[in-house]
Amino acid sequence: MREWTRDERYQRFEEVPQDKLEALRAQVQQSNYKQIFHIQPESGLLNDPNGLIYFNGEYHVSHQWFPLGAVHGLKYWYNYTSKDLVHFEPHGPILKPDTKNDSHGVYSGSAFEYDNHLYYMYTGNARDESWQRHSSQLIAKVNQDKTISKFPKPVIGQPPEGYTEHFRDPKVFKKDDAYYAIIGAQNVHKSGRVVLYQSTDIVHWQFMGELETKLTEFGYMWECPDYFNLDGFDILMFCPQGVEPDGDKFNNIYQAGYIIGQLDVDNLAMNHADFNELDNGFDFYAPQSFVDAQGQRVLIGWMGLPDVNYPTDEENWAHCLTIPRVLSIEDGKLKQRPIKALKQLRFNEETALGYANKFTRQLHPYDGKQYELIIDVLENDATELYFELRSSRQHSTLIKYNTREQKLTLDRSESGPLPTPVEGTSRSTILDTPLSQLQIFIDTSSIEVFCNDGERVMTARIFPDEDATGIKTSTESGQAYLKFTKYELKEG
Ligand code: FRU
Repeated sequence: MREWTRDERYQRFEEVPQDKLEALRAQVQQSNYKQIFHIQPESGLLNDPNGLIYFNGEYHVSHQWFPLGAVHGLKYWYNYTSKDLVHFEPHGPILKPDTKNDSHGVYSGSAFEYDNHLYYMYTGNARDESWQRHSSQLIAKVNQDKTISKFPKPVIGQPPEGYTEHFRDPKVFKKDDAYYAIIGAQNVHKSGRVVLYQSTDIVHWQFMGELETKLTEFGYMWECPDYFNLDGFDILMFCPQGVEPDGDKFNNIYQAGYIIGQLDVDNLAMNHADFNELDNGFDFYAPQSFVDAQGQRVLIGWMGLPDVNYPTDEENWAHCLTIPRVLSIEDGKLKQRPIKALKQLRFNEETALGYANKFTRQLHPYDGKQYELIIDVLENDATELYFELRSSRQHSTLIKYNTREQKLTLDRSESGPLPTPVEGTSRSTILDTPLSQLQIFIDTSSIEVFCNDGERVMTARIFPDEDATGIKTSTESGQAYLKFTKYELKEG
């Protein structure tokens, strides 16, 4: 990969000649790795989902965007609307780095409704002459015609005392009659934290304090927080940076997870169980949630990580968003299931019922590069179960289940070119219950595995050959009785 100079990274998209932008878009269109039912950038780099909301009968989904290449340069918000969270209409950049306070990037933030209008609160990233970072929180109103009116000055001008300039990603929520913003922060001792602000008029925001958790030493920065109450439980999600790996846990460069418990708002304290990762795969970060038209809590994440190079970087584009997941709490545990609306993309259903044993079986006429595959494990006497997807002579992505340990593994060591630097080539998780079902979404260059009807999710980018379309199954020893249901998936 070529090195980008600072000037190149902070070049304004509006000043780039049209033919250069066209050439960048053409590279995406020609890419063998272009996704068909995931939101991916029209050019350049996508990162965090931003400003997610269901408002006036439409979903609004934006993402962090650097249009000019696969690097983290000057960030914009690229915006889509949708009626169903499956088909998206692109609107291009909606928030631009065009004021003093966001001169070096309109960073992540959230959407909220106030007085029947749509607003965004986001982080303005600014750098001074000595390249010192200044973070403030800004509000922009989205007008009917999708033009933007930014408030003339930041609503939160600087980090509170005792915190560094790593102060960003406000998530606004309403509770009773007040608005709150929860913001990712780093204290002066270099520990990750979240802080809360309150407002009744959305212009004046009062610092309430830090939210106290048991995680006093848990990484040096907490990015992209989110808070909501679900089925009587309070959930705080955030992305800690600087957490050490611990067995099967925390093996990605940065984590995305949650704590669940009860929040005492008056004392700003949360009583909670352990931090859990939201996804046990390789590529998942900066998720945000919102409430959909049916009142369900839906989550979308960035299917990528900061500070990692991906095979499409050479083609000047990188990353995509995950499919939306519905969250619920069952028996005190968080469940994540793919949104039902994705069923619209299904065509050509094929089913098969049979035994897997130690002789590898290729499923015929099954194959594909974009599909949904449901595997029901009806009986399992195998020591280990193997499912190979996107397989060709050279490539294969392996899902492995160890029955005794109840351990599910996603192995991408043979999946094709790999993102770097990344620790290891497999990720594992111990299930709460024996494996009964896998629901797998395969797009051109990604896999999302939902396990046991929402118990776990494992997500990864994979970059196999064009002819890697096979689906195979086998066991280490013993046999399993399986039902396969496969749907091809159309473009979203
Ligand atoms: C997370 C993040 C956010 C920040 C944004 C900048 O990936 O670093 O904390 O607002 O990306 O693009």
